[in-house]
Amino acid sequence: MVLLLPKDFVFQSNKKMDLKLKVLLIGFFVSFSIFAQNPETKLREHLLMDFGWRFSLGHATDYTKDFGTGTAYFTHFAKAGYGNGAATSAFKDSTWYELDLPHDWAVELPFSSSASHSHGYKTIGWKYPETSVGWYRKRFNIPVSDIGRKISIQFDGVHRNSTVWVNGFYVGHEPSGYASSVYDITDYLNYGAENIVVVRVDASVEEGWYYEGAGIYRHVWLNKTNRLHVAQYGTFITTELNDENAELTVRTKVENQYAQSKNFTIEQTLLDANNQQVASKKLENISLNGNLDNTYFQKIKLEKPTLWSLENPYLYKLKTDIIADGKVVDSYTTNVGIRTVRFDPNLGFFLNGKNVKILGTNIHQDHAGVGTAIPDALQEFRVKKLKEMGSNAIRTSHNPATPELLDACDRLGMLVLDENRLMGINKEHFDLLERFMVRDRNHPSVVIWSVGNEEWAIESNEKGARITKTMQEFAQKLDSSRAFTVAVSGGWENGSGKTTQVMGYNYIVQGNIDEHHKNFPWQSGIGTEESNTIGTRGVYVDDKENGRMAASNRMPENVGTESGWKFYAARPFLSGVFFWTGFDYRGEANPLVWPAVNSQFGIIDLCGFPKDIFYYLKSWWGKEPVMHIMPHWNWKGSEGKNIKVIVYSNAEVVELLLNGKSLGKKPMETNGHLEWDVNYKPGTLVAKGFSKGKLIVSEKIQTTDESAKIELSADRMELNADGEDVAIITVRVNDKKNRLVPTANNEVTFTLNGPGKIIGVGNGDPASHEPEQFFGSEQWRRKAFNGLAQIIVKTTKQTGEITLTASSEGMTSATLKLNSEDTIVRSTIENITK
Ligand code: GAL
Repeated sequence: MVLLLPKDFVFQSNKKMDLKLKVLLIGFFVSFSIFAQNPETKLREHLLMDFGWRFSLGHATDYTKDFGTGTAYFTHFAKAGYGNGAATSAFKDSTWYELDLPHDWAVELPFSSSASHSHGYKTIGWKYPETSVGWYRKRFNIPVSDIGRKISIQFDGVHRNSTVWVNGFYVGHEPSGYASSVYDITDYLNYGAENIVVVRVDASVEEGWYYEGAGIYRHVWLNKTNRLHVAQYGTFITTELNDENAELTVRTKVENQYAQSKNFTIEQTLLDANNQQVASKKLENISLNGNLDNTYFQKIKLEKPTLWSLENPYLYKLKTDIIADGKVVDSYTTNVGIRTVRFDPNLGFFLNGKNVKILGTNIHQDHAGVGTAIPDALQEFRVKKLKEMGSNAIRTSHNPATPELLDACDRLGMLVLDENRLMGINKEHFDLLERFMVRDRNHPSVVIWSVGNEEWAIESNEKGARITKTMQEFAQKLDSSRAFTVAVSGGWENGSGKTTQVMGYNYIVQGNIDEHHKNFPWQSGIGTEESNTIGTRGVYVDDKENGRMAASNRMPENVGTESGWKFYAARPFLSGVFFWTGFDYRGEANPLVWPAVNSQFGIIDLCGFPKDIFYYLKSWWGKEPVMHIMPHWNWKGSEGKNIKVIVYSNAEVVELLLNGKSLGKKPMETNGHLEWDVNYKPGTLVAKGFSKGKLIVSEKIQTTDESAKIELSADRMELNADGEDVAIITVRVNDKKNRLVPTANNEVTFTLNGPGKIIGVGNGDPASHEPEQFFGSEQWRRKAFNGLAQIIVKTTKQTGEITLTASSEGMTSATLKLNSEDTIVRSTIENITK
């Protein structure tokens, strides 16, 4: 039934499309074109709308620079269809920039010491009205054959305060920068003609206290359905496991947007990962009055299912067909991970009945070069980096995540603590909470909800206790299969901590967890935040004036990654911990201020380059043998002085050798690290790890020569020519013997040829004020930071070889060739460029 493709379904492929597939597709189009003019039989379409937008900055305080929008005698509020200024169809936008989504214009802006500290000193916000409003316009066609269908436009996230018009009609407003909004635009459309969607985004007011970007930074979709259809996010599947068998409860919300009552059947088909049917269920003879919706329950039994687990994140698909008058009129697909989750007050977290310690990090949603406009492939890259460390969980601090991040977690086997943004009990709070949970509740990766974080005004008083309770009670009606938490930073016994189901401890130094556990024996616990060893990648001497901090021994004895992990590891009643943070993020350069612009809390820097502490956690969270030596061994001028060498490893015994001479063997404490004071001599430092008397792992670092060569490598060499895929390219500055020069900061310039474009550069330096984006004929460039930089290359829809060349004065250049290959691209909405 997947094959019921309507004529207007835009199934695009590139030129070299496999012939067999083409023949197959033509076959389908021919067979189904007989239905094509009949909207009653067209199936749902979910069309990506990311391509071909026009963009311009407006103005937050000067209406003349905001295209006069909203200043006409009759405005969009006064009269339907009276959007004026840039909101009209006739407005000339030919001088505006052309761009594809996702887009974050804040990342394009310069830095200033007078800009917002928490938002990374980017010149945006209430002080900068000229750069805080952005306008987006996109033209698209709707065929006559769509008359009769329901058509909606879906924004997965716009930061922030977005107003949307279609053909000059005001269709809605969403203040939150983290909510997904869907607007019904059926009645405003021009059928068989051109349409225009216009979005005004106002990022003047901050929503969080960390970099948030600005613009349409997540996907936009156009949804077309029959008037009788499954509601958007309208399925909800929960699992019960009985021995080796599963029973799925499927809730389907059906909307009948016809005026008349409709009779229909709901047919559920469960497909395995190879698209083979493994179960099905029909609910027949349903009658639903016109302009009503209703939710229907079905149970599906499955013998010996393959469970979704961290080791094998197996996904089934549930196809929900609505059949009326003998024809499928709507088909909705939901990914299904069959698994159970449970938090136990004394024993911690259980996945499929198995005790799993949650080994997590908090993440915000920005990355080097691109800001919050993270392409899907980059989401996957980031999740993989965390998994590489042995981490099995992320907390989406402090807001609903991008859906594609959750998809990546579903696919890769990563647990998610999914967090709500606003805490409160009024209509707006509940509406946001409901939309967030209904959108995310089918993700198997989501194992717990958080209704809030560190609400200082309420977290330690009775109001916090009440608000938490009321929110949880509301939220439980939306999902009773998962538990709820609140991340609390103080007054654990008196506020939210009294009523939350799972106590979220923000930092062990803020109270006595053992005492709390004793006083609240019914309550499970989790470390929602714990201190990481703050520091800059590759920096070993504090340089606070220049915005950088040594990466070692930053925190007092009892606060830091090692003490934090030892604390959580020793307490089985605690289900796990989320370190603050997985990656560095822009803003909150605490405890530093300008010129530092980015946080240094990350275990990994803003580009995804691991800091030393990554290897501490990898030693105790991961499964492979680890050996890591810090610092580097380039200390010209320090000859004869003692240098503290730290070794992270999970070997039982470690031996350190300098220039072939043993500096002694030391036993490794579980969850610990080792230290040597080494009298510095240039040369080679080797660490050998032994377990059960055998050498199992070793690591060597060397004093290098000067920078001599650039080396380029990509996370993937074969890319999809879909205009969305990205390669994340590491730029290394090596010496003549190909060893990374750990202090190199040479500026590198980049040239790209072939069907791709550079979309951002970075280097992980938390105090860099260099541009991350270049426009027009500007030369892309970036300094290396401690030997490394990163460049992100996006494909176009053309296949071919993408060649990236990196050069730097006095060094041998490097060239990298990537293949952008034929692929079936997602269905997109036709683009009209004027
Ligand atoms: C926590 C807060 C985080 C971040 C962190 C910085 O209190 O929840 O969002 O601000 O402090 O130390």
